[in-house]
Amino acid sequence: MVNPMARSPIRTPSLPYTQLSFTSTRGTACGVQHLIQVDITAAGMHLAVLLLASALPLTTLALDNGLMRTPPMGWLAWERFRCDIDCDNDPKNCISENLFIDMADRLFKDGWKELGYVYVNIDDCWASMERDKQGRLQADPKRFPGGILKLSRYMHDRGLKLGIYADMGTHTCGGYPGTPLDKIKIDAQTFADWEVDMLKFDGCYSDVMQQEEGYPLMSMALNATGRPIAYSCSWPAYQGGLPPKVNYTQLGEICNLWRNYGDIQDSWDSVLRIVDWFFENQDILSAAAGPGRWNDPDMLVIGDFGLSIDQSRSQMALWAIMAAPLYMSNDLRTISNEARAILQNKMAISISQDVSGFQGRRIVKEKSGIEVFWRPLSKNTSALVFFSRRTDMPFRYKTSLSRLNYESGSYKVIDVFTDKSVMLKDSTYFVVSVNPTGVVMLYLSAPAKLNPRLFYRGGQRQRSAHDENAFFL
Ligand code: GLA
Repeated sequence: MVNPMARSPIRTPSLPYTQLSFTSTRGTACGVQHLIQVDITAAGMHLAVLLLASALPLTTLALDNGLMRTPPMGWLAWERFRCDIDCDNDPKNCISENLFIDMADRLFKDGWKELGYVYVNIDDCWASMERDKQGRLQADPKRFPGGILKLSRYMHDRGLKLGIYADMGTHTCGGYPGTPLDKIKIDAQTFADWEVDMLKFDGCYSDVMQQEEGYPLMSMALNATGRPIAYSCSWPAYQGGLPPKVNYTQLGEICNLWRNYGDIQDSWDSVLRIVDWFFENQDILSAAAGPGRWNDPDMLVIGDFGLSIDQSRSQMALWAIMAAPLYMSNDLRTISNEARAILQNKMAISISQDVSGFQGRRIVKEKSGIEVFWRPLSKNTSALVFFSRRTDMPFRYKTSLSRLNYESGSYKVIDVFTDKSVMLKDSTYFVVSVNPTGVVMLYLSAPAKLNPRLFYRGGQRQRSAHDENAFFL
């Protein structure tokens, strides 16, 4: 899956805090467009050379599956429903076709699909313990009596997509039949025959060498089927997530997304551990991300049992800043209105889905426990997240856009979770009140030339940088 961005030398600039500047962001955005054009030409030449040589099988030419140009969104069974196969005693929650049909119905009927949540992903424990006579994987006949094809069709009839799970190794992590090297082609073809739209390829029960062979092989095998199947690779998570063991350039060429780190659990501790790891390694990870190739910090656990409302907003905000896939793992049949409102927040989603595909960064880490995260967005807009690690009380954090290295100008600033908006001059000090373990998330328009009228209301000048009391956002 070669994607044009993969070969572009231009990446989110790895600038230290003091050098962050919107001028460079604007330059980057134009540069990317330009490079895509150049790259298409280069790809054309490449194609010609390959055709002339005609030494490689045709499938090699179809590497770009064109999928997931923005981070994928949907629902994934694992975190919430795990390997519950007890359909006799727990029919509503067991891994069965009914569970996926129920979730599809909710996505379709409760406004999720329109917002972009279109993938319905089966995870582990769907398969029968035995392959069929032709050596193909098959779904557990009791729990999936209609087979996987029935589920795909069910999704497609509703404008949704179906994802499935397999494991590059002898067994899945849950002990079900794996996909060792000699089964990769047949399994890829089976998934295509079942009309699935995405494969999560886990890595339990395989070694380094097998993974090195198996992950690229599955990418080629999926492409060879001719069906566009998005490819999620758990490979880096099994190799510690960092170079030199992990080659992110290669991953960007063969996978659409990849798990870099351990499994998320339904707790704030777990979310925080993931956040820490991703932002400590942001230089490496941001450079790897772009349209069609995403780092995956794992599922959203918003709507489950472990996160408070503030913590749920934090997960949503930080996943959007990271340009992370948004796969919810919750029970959409019983989700609370508050959790739904967070997951369906249109502005947070549009930040997540920004076409530029840059992965945002942490730009400030204060001793007070406040951290600031920033993601440049298309059309010279941007998002900021103020996050509190404190555990005492709401913290009033005072700053200005110029302190956050925004260029001079006036910005329309919208608070993503309250919808309040305000015009802010770069030099104007403002205060955000950040709840313990919570966030304030802002969406900022492109800077307009300074327009003094915007800073007067009813003849009264608004507070400026030199005022003692900052503007309260
Ligand atoms: C691994 C993966 C999880 C899930 C389980 C299933 O732990 O990281 O996301 O797929 O396997 O067994």
